[in-house]
Amino acid sequence: MDKICVVGGKPLCGELCVKNAKNAVLPMLGAVLLCKEPMTIPDCPHLLDVDNMCAILNHLGSECIWNGDSLMVCTEGANKYEMPDKIARELRSSIFMLGPVLARFGHAIFSYPGGCDIGSRPIDMHLKGLRALNVEIKEEGGHIYCDGGKMKGASIHLDYPSVGATENLMMAATAAEGVTTINNAAREPEIEALADALNSMGARVTGAGTSSVTIIGKLPLHKGEFLPLPDRIVAGTFLTAAAVTGGDVTVKGARGDHLHSVLSKLEECGCRVIAQKGEVRCIGPARPKELHLVETSPYPGFPTDMQAVFMALCTIANGTSIIFENVFDSRFRIAAELACMGATITVKDRMAIVRGVDRLNGANVNACDLRAGAALVISGLRAEGLTTVFNAQVIDRGYEAIEDTLSMLGANVVRVSGD
Ligand code: EPZ
Repeated sequence: MDKICVVGGKPLCGELCVKNAKNAVLPMLGAVLLCKEPMTIPDCPHLLDVDNMCAILNHLGSECIWNGDSLMVCTEGANKYEMPDKIARELRSSIFMLGPVLARFGHAIFSYPGGCDIGSRPIDMHLKGLRALNVEIKEEGGHIYCDGGKMKGASIHLDYPSVGATENLMMAATAAEGVTTINNAAREPEIEALADALNSMGARVTGAGTSSVTIIGKLPLHKGEFLPLPDRIVAGTFLTAAAVTGGDVTVKGARGDHLHSVLSKLEECGCRVIAQKGEVRCIGPARPKELHLVETSPYPGFPTDMQAVFMALCTIANGTSIIFENVFDSRFRIAAELACMGATITVKDRMAIVRGVDRLNGANVNACDLRAGAALVISGLRAEGLTTVFNAQVIDRGYEAIEDTLSMLGANVVRVSGD
């Protein structure tokens, strides 16, 4: 169990470069199964979730080779379609393998992916969509047995614009006879990145980025090119850290057009935001103004993955802020940790009322999920005294050596690696 120790009081100043987005890379690590030739993911972040997806690919018989920040995957030797229980239960994004495994082998045996600290994480929409593609699915003893040998294109309606279900069904549909349309599809930039990757492999995916995505199936797929997509959540996290600490941070590589909802909230609380081609800069005020309403919703709405760090921002704002978490059913666990630092937050179901305080005090806190963990470290940058964030290794699921990036920006922060 690692811990990250922070001594607060120093504004963050400087610049950092953002890498390829975790939430774009993970589905691409599924898409590599759709052809046998080796493919490379450039500018790939070294993250726990990426390592776990590589472990799954290796288990299935593939080979994953790092060369600096490039990750080459060869699936020629892939010969298994049963997902290892242990990893599947631990890694939600293992579900992104279901569609590609079905497309590659016509069969898949999976266990239910673990829920995690932000909610129950069901996969009913994934399964409903696969059944619409004529996949026979039996659920027995916690396992899902899929027979997708005769997938047929279909018109699928998602009850909710699920990112993972959209991506899974896009990849499965490349092997279905005929045309598939996914209605009420997720519109995140990561969906477009996946569609671009699939099209570079010879697929025909249109409409990605809109709520209606069409895939023509059964086209021969070949080695393609994965173009990097800057991680909008990592970029948003460090820009918000400038707002929390009254600093001045520039994120090189960040795309302002993928962060409109976040940048608008940063300006609303008094930051000066300069978004130009290839970088975004945030200059924080001495003390942020309250945010009357932060509501998470599917893209292009305010991202749920930015909710925790914005709650941290609101705890030191000059007034009372209201946050609604509409995407996941339990993503406010950070509130109790922030309260240990002196924050005053009232949680009622999906609503959190955050009354800004003049000062946070350093404390021992626990990282309950990767975004909450990052937010607690950032709160420690503002708090008086020492903050120790326990269970800090969960932060590595989505942030590469967060302590190094923050140190580079002037923070007093160290990681103490546990056993
Ligand atoms: C993706 O998760 C991201 N993960 C999440 O990022 C992100 O928070 C989420 O999309 C929303 O943007 C990856 O891309 C690897 P969903 P995903 O399916 O696909 C419910 C991070 O911190 N739902 O869009 O799992 C679900 O419970 C992570 O980087 C069903 O009910 O999210 C949730 O309430 C956290 N049934 C809502 O939909 C289903 O079959 C949105 O989930 C699928 C989802």
